[in-house]
Amino acid sequence: MLEKDIEKVLITEEEITIRSKEIGAQLTKDFEGKTPLILGILRGSIPFLAELVKRIDIHVEMDFMAVSSYHGGTKTSGEVKMIMDLDTPVNGRDIIIVEDIIDTGLTLKYLKELLEHRGAKVTIVTMLDKKEGRKVEIEADYTGFPIPNEFVVGFGLDYDEKYRNLPYVGVLKQEVYMG
Ligand code: PRP
Ligand code: MN
Ligand code: MG
Repeated sequence: MLEKDIEKVLITEEEITIRSKEIGAQLTKDFEGKTPLILGILRGSIPFLAELVKRIDIHVEMDFMAVSSYHGGTKTSGEVKMIMDLDTPVNGRDIIIVEDIIDTGLTLKYLKELLEHRGAKVTIVTMLDKKEGRKVEIEADYTGFPIPNEFVVGFGLDYDEKYRNLPYVGVLKQEVYMG
């Protein structure tokens, strides 16, 4: 039923599962002997985070933050606002931020700087990287898939808070946001 609003599927559920296993295995190796804090950024990261954590075979802890980004009128302005901070003390900790997408980079740049300022060692994992969207310099340490400059929904990504529950990443039909 939701599929009728989708122009094309960009990344299938199976591809996401396979890639999550690969990244999970890599994180298992790279963080061996440590107990990193998996930090999910609400709300978009949840489906990918759920997929990814199951593939990490060392002890981890989990916590969450919610932020919202306001992209101002001009192209270079942008402000990120804290909606919900995390509970866990982070000084001296390894934090693995899990995101659904990096677009302008504003959200992750804000989070990375904030957490580093609090004394954490920050690693970034993103399911999607839309490199063409970047307005500030920030790179992920682990990326699921690079994507072209198209408006995508699904697997956590929303349009007007909807379509997060699609089991794949797809491009929305234009008629959906034209009304
Ligand atoms: C989206 C997405 C990322 C962020 C990426 O979140 O989930 O968190 O934007 O964009 P950026 O690189 O341009 O900052 P959004 O603020 O829409 O909140 P949501 O996760 O609740 O949808
Ligand atoms: Mn988000
Ligand atoms: Mg959103």
